[in-house]
Amino acid sequence: MLVSLENAGVYKSERWLVRGITMHVEPGEIVTLIGPNGSGKSTTAKMALGVLKADEGKTYRRQDLKASYVPQKLDVNWTLPLSVSRFMRLTNKASHSEIETALSSTQILHLAQKQMSQLSGGEFQRVLLARAILRSPDFLVLDEPVQGVDFNGEVALYKLIDDIRHKLNCGVLLISHDLHVVMSTTDRIICLNGHICCSGTPANVASSNEFKSLFGEHALPGLSLYKHRHDHEHLLDGQINQSSKSKSNLKQNNSEKNRALRKTKNA
Ligand SMILES: Nc1ncnc2c1ncn2[C@@H]1O[C@H](COP(=O)(O)OP(=O)(O)OP(=O)(O)O)[C@@H](O)[C@H]1O
Ligand SMILES: [Mg+2]
Repeated sequence: MLVSLENAGVYKSERWLVRGITMHVEPGEIVTLIGPNGSGKSTTAKMALGVLKADEGKTYRRQDLKASYVPQKLDVNWTLPLSVSRFMRLTNKASHSEIETALSSTQILHLAQKQMSQLSGGEFQRVLLARAILRSPDFLVLDEPVQGVDFNGEVALYKLIDDIRHKLNCGVLLISHDLHVVMSTTDRIICLNGHICCSGTPANVASSNEFKSLFGEHALPGLSLYKHRHDHEHLLDGQINQSSKSKSNLKQNNSEKNRALRKTKNA
């Protein structure tokens, strides 16, 4: 086991932000925290990392654990001149070849000399991911790593996270609001609302009453929606890897998505 929490809670400003959190992360698995805004996902992740101390319960982190964290918010003035490769070195003593390897694994080596302020949302998230895997972590915590990324970009980023955990055999604690996409790559889901409402495999959680009462029945069409039919790939340097079936499949994927969104709006 890499990290575990047992009945852990954080008390601040005269209230429990989260309480009774029991969870663990093992090497090579993706555990996803879901829940509404303010439900304690970031707080739980920080407690797992040891950034926040648990005010009750027990926390365990494997000895010499190498943890990496992509926070939900980064407080940096992006208008200052800062290239991608310089940003990668800001908090890491990494060699040129280590930086190249990390940028290659997230498929953004071509952006090495680009200014951080000029990156698109998806490129920016890939840079954060590249920086996080620079030290080959055992435990990777990603707090909303696909914010500001479009649907196909999200799918590609989750696929990348899935590849990374296999390559590094690291445990991943992921926080996400993208239920429809995340369900397909995660091993276990923990549904939070100040405490753990339900947890288990994606299929078990999606069919539980606690999940339905937290997210409403309208979340369900979206959950069954995602199937990876997209058989062409948009490479980040602008190239497309395309197969002959791709156009009709992409159309089908998009119309399924639109149908589910209409259903959600009408619910
Ligand atoms: N340092 C703090 N002191 C007091 N209250 C805090 C502190 N940090 C977070 N909170 C409160 O704790 C609750 C949980 O916050 P947290 O950031 O963990 O939620 P979250 O599930 O990550 O939400 P979101 O989806 O909006 O990111 C919120 O009500 C927040 O205002
Ligand atoms: Mg948060």
